[in-house]
Amino acid sequence: MKIAVLPGDGIGPEIMAEALKVLKALDLDLEFEHGLVGGAAYDIVGEPLPAATLRLARAADALMFGAVGGPQYDTLPRAKRPEQAILGLRKELGLFANLRPAIVYAELADASTIRADVVAGLDLLILRELTGDVYFGQPRGVRTLEGGEREGYDTMRYTESEVRRIAHAGFRAAMKRGRKLCSVDKANVLETSQFWRDVVVEVAREYPQIELSHMYVDNAAMQLIRNPGQFDVIVTGNLFGDILSDEASMLTGSIGMLPSAALDENGKGLYEPIHGSAPDIAGKGVANPLATILSAAMMLRYSLNQDAAADRIEAAVRKVLAQGLRCADISQDGRQTVGTSAMGDAVLAALRA
Ligand code: IPM
Ligand code: MG
Repeated sequence: MKIAVLPGDGIGPEIMAEALKVLKALDLDLEFEHGLVGGAAYDIVGEPLPAATLRLARAADALMFGAVGGPQYDTLPRAKRPEQAILGLRKELGLFANLRPAIVYAELADASTIRADVVAGLDLLILRELTGDVYFGQPRGVRTLEGGEREGYDTMRYTESEVRRIAHAGFRAAMKRGRKLCSVDKANVLETSQFWRDVVVEVAREYPQIELSHMYVDNAAMQLIRNPGQFDVIVTGNLFGDILSDEASMLTGSIGMLPSAALDENGKGLYEPIHGSAPDIAGKGVANPLATILSAAMMLRYSLNQDAAADRIEAAVRKVLAQGLRCADISQDGRQTVGTSAMGDAVLAALRA
């Protein structure tokens, strides 16, 4: 099984090194090939997503992705910015289904800024559509109107087939979990959202076992804080999912704990921590590698059919948390913290124990 390894920028290389340590300890037949991506690629070849990286990505069975971006790239023309690498990979590989679980580990319930009794035991899945919506809709741009005033514009749009396939993915995910699906939209205002809701309702007829509900995105943002336990699976569009998944991550105490998967129609996927490149702490060896290690577990489960190995990694992570090990992002009461590689080593030790 061929894994494309794309560490990227900022803390990307540090956290990826720990995930690879763990994957290599599993005695699976995995072949790793590294590629340049993001600002790291721009610095060397002048493109955030070089053709060679795209070739490597297409040939791989799965991709491990670190993070991209940094302040030094913010003023580049959009096509050269690091974010284009991840957006390009999603689009080019058809990775339309983005799984963003938010799980509160018992040991970390106090790490959240939300009261522990509200978040305890939380286990929800946000399924974000990833290749459509206002992220990719045309036309977009900045134009000068008659009279000389400038105007910026983007286009929110979803085709029926795009909504259908993410809705199916949502219902299937709910079947494997608590059988509740909440579709989030803004149908009280947006045509695209009303259409989304209508199509989801049509698809729902094929899943009579699932309890389907609909929620406006503003209310969903509130409900996530008020009573997150009411949700099992949330399915939503690209833009709303981007925002709600960052919000949901904070229920768990740290964005540094959350893995994600972006899957195509056939189960090939790109796996990345949902946090970014964190340039402020890059190179200091303090970043939390657990989100990336847990992303590796997701890869084993969803793309490589290695459920047992995925279970082992997840159990090892729980064990190090139970042992009291914390990186700075999830540390409470000034407890002593461990660095990136010490955390990776601890997971490795737990895995071997
Ligand atoms: C994410 C990120 C990306 C997004 C950026 C880096 C383009 O915020 O994966 O959530 O907006 O999708
Ligand atoms: Mg985001």
